[in-house]
Amino acid sequence: MGLLLSGLLAEPGLAEKVALDPSQWGDEAGEKCVSCHAKASSGLAAQWRESAHHAAGVNCLDCHRAERSDPDAMVHEGQVIATIVSPKDCGRCHQKEYEEQQGSVHAEAFTLIEARLPALADHVGGPVMRAASCDQCHGSRVRVQGDGRLDPATWPNSGIGRINPDGSKGSCSACHGRHGFSKAQAREPDACVRCHSGPDSPDKEIFEASKHGMLYVAHRHQMNLEAPEWIAGRDYTAAPTCVTCHMGAAGKLPSTHDVGMRNVWSLNSPVSKRQFLVVFEDGAKLELPEDAEIPKRGAELTRLDGTVGRVKTVAPPERRRQAMSMVCLECHAKGFTEGFMNQFDAVVELFNAKFAHPARTIMDRLYAAELLTPTPFDEPIEFTYWELWHDEGARARHGASMMSPNHAWWEGMYVVGRNFYARFLPEARAIAGEHAAELVEAVISKVGAHQWLNDPQQTSAILGFAGEGGR
Ligand code: HEC
Ligand code: HEC
Ligand code: HEC
Ligand code: HEC
Ligand code: HEC
Ligand code: HEC
Ligand code: HEC
Ligand code: HEC
Repeated sequence: MGLLLSGLLAEPGLAEKVALDPSQWGDEAGEKCVSCHAKASSGLAAQWRESAHHAAGVNCLDCHRAERSDPDAMVHEGQVIATIVSPKDCGRCHQKEYEEQQGSVHAEAFTLIEARLPALADHVGGPVMRAASCDQCHGSRVRVQGDGRLDPATWPNSGIGRINPDGSKGSCSACHGRHGFSKAQAREPDACVRCHSGPDSPDKEIFEASKHGMLYVAHRHQMNLEAPEWIAGRDYTAAPTCVTCHMGAAGKLPSTHDVGMRNVWSLNSPVSKRQFLVVFEDGAKLELPEDAEIPKRGAELTRLDGTVGRVKTVAPPERRRQAMSMVCLECHAKGFTEGFMNQFDAVVELFNAKFAHPARTIMDRLYAAELLTPTPFDEPIEFTYWELWHDEGARARHGASMMSPNHAWWEGMYVVGRNFYARFLPEARAIAGEHAAELVEAVISKVGAHQWLNDPQQTSAILGFAGEGGR
């Protein structure tokens, strides 16, 4: 068994309750903040008063206190404070959650888009759109003005991979609404859907349309969301939520703040690949597609942010699937779970082989023949191709992975097919002109799943297309 999974299985249920050190909080100078802020911002103070932090004696200053040397430190009513309470600051008391969150794909969400797709935001929209859209989900790079105040072009922001003034990544209040910071609230699907909804990651819509979503709504009162521990199969059985499958404890599988750990595929790329998970000695992680060179233990590797790390362990895709399946097995049988996973994987493989590979090959050939400019999004077919994998392609794959037949087909693969046959191919042929045979047809003719195109007799009767007798 790989180190990763054996690590995952070592402790029953929630990982060991970390003993918090009470000498870390209860700073008396923090009492003054409350009395004044009860007037200055009464809603905020009231939320804190109802929180687990208040109950445990953790006050405003315990979180907001700063060192004078911090880039965002400011003197406020006689105390040195910072407005941003970063994951690193929370990590002073919650080290386990901090380390898992820093090592997750969530923490990389800003780093990822900084290097990719600026044209989508800047050309199609305009640079101001980044702050109001991409960055609200992915995170911003928060800048500090001279007096310790935060640059309003980059904050407010609670994006999932925000780069904080202290260098730490992300924002714990992305999921834990402030100032309640409740775990019951974060167990709700609603904690995720601000970002996981819409064309490219329609997980909200998919969950709601699934049998799990149906039962969650009907049996929410049996979900035991307020429980101190929340282990699927023990503390609740009515239905799984996003958190159950991607973060929650189930049987012997402990909970984790690393949301990507249990996922095999890259479902949001032009062509999906199974992914290895490389875990570094310093806790950071990196996903590598199955066709990359997979490093050995002890090897050194450059990561997304440019730093070099030493490999501690590598989890192959099968181990990640095993972890996800352990969640299902709390409520379903083995054969049921395997059967479902087979159906899901088959949809991803179909998408890859029939649409994703051929479309990408055709686009590559059109660029190579200089029939398209290298500038993205200045030609209609670039939108057609983008939507093929990013919108309908993502809906089909996400729909199949999370049990919504509507999204797998009507909102997903059906639209992929319609786009491919009725927009993408005609546009590609028109652009290729006299070279269509080599740039387009040669690619399509190699794919068995497109052979029906050459056999119109076979289906003409079905939909009434052939006239009166059709149905
Ligand atoms: C005498 C009243 C008073 C006291 C005491 C006080 N605050 Fe404030 N604080 C305010 C007011 C009023 C504002 C809003 C100022 C503004 O609008 O820029 C504010 C703003 C803030 C901000 C936002 C700063 C920004 O602009 O980003 C934070 C964070 C904050 N206070 C935390 C604290 C903490 C922590 C303490 C205790 C150490 C504290 N406050 C004590 C009145 C007070
Ligand atoms: C558990 C840690 C924690 C505690 C306790 C806490 N805060 Fe905060 N506070 C945060 C976080 C996190 C943010 C979000 C800042 C960011 O990261 O963007 C924040 C933001 C703020 C802001 C600016 C955001 C806004 O909505 O205007 C103010 C003002 C503030 N806190 C005041 C207070 C006061 C007053 C108290 C005590 C009644 C308090 N905080 C207690 C963590 C805490
Ligand atoms: C509503 C929230 C939201 C907005 C707005 C948003 N994204 Fe995303 N983005 C996501 C989510 C969620 C994912 C992860 C999808 C998945 O893995 O299922 C994602 C994935 C991505 C990826 C793929 C990352 C990977 O895993 O390889 C890129 C690139 C990206 N977004 C860029 C952008 C850009 C550029 C913008 C603005 C033009 C933008 N996004 C706007 C939520 C958002
Ligand atoms: C992606 C959403 C998300 C983010 C981001 C997030 N959390 Fe959580 N957190 C949750 C969920 C969901 C739970 C409840 C998990 C459970 O009970 O299975 C939780 C639970 C917790 C708990 C209670 C753990 C326990 O065993 O009682 C703490 C403490 C916590 N989070 C701290 C943090 C800190 C610190 C950060 C930032 C470093 C953070 N969280 C970021 C979703 C999130
Ligand atoms: C100074 C120490 C300290 C800091 C800093 C701190 N916490 Fe806590 N946190 C605690 C204590 C103590 C508890 C209560 C533990 C318990 O009840 O077992 C707690 C409980 C929690 C819980 C569980 C709440 C519930 O519903 O049971 C969450 C979630 C959480 N903290 C998130 C955060 C986040 C996010 C930050 C940073 C914004 C943060 N904490 C900063 C000490 C801290
Ligand atoms: C503030 C926005 C935001 C919130 C809230 C959020 N996410 Fe994400 N999530 C993202 C973005 C952006 C990505 C893509 C990041 C990347 O690929 O690096 C992502 C990626 C993911 C992934 C894909 C990991 C992979 O393997 O590629 C999963 C699973 C996920 N989130 C689950 C959740 C769950 C569960 C919650 C709620 C408990 C949640 N997220 C809350 C923005 C968010
Ligand atoms: C019954 C379990 C289950 C529930 C409930 C569930 N998911 Fe998933 N999710 C999965 C599985 C299985 C996959 C595919 C994993 C793989 O690639 O092997 C997946 C894939 C994803 C991905 C794509 C990751 C990637 O590789 O690009 C995201 C993002 C995601 N889920 C977020 C969510 C959100 C948000 C919710 C709630 C609205 C949710 N999930 C509810 C099981 C679940
Ligand atoms: C907390 C319990 C729980 C967990 C965990 C769970 N499920 Fe379910 N699931 C249910 C319930 C309850 C139903 C509804 C059964 C029914 O009425 O047919 C269901 C229904 C389904 C269905 C629809 C079956 C049908 O006959 O229409 C599929 C597929 C499914 N689950 C797959 C999964 C997979 C895959 C996982 C793990 C990634 C998983 N479930 C995790 C409780 C759970």
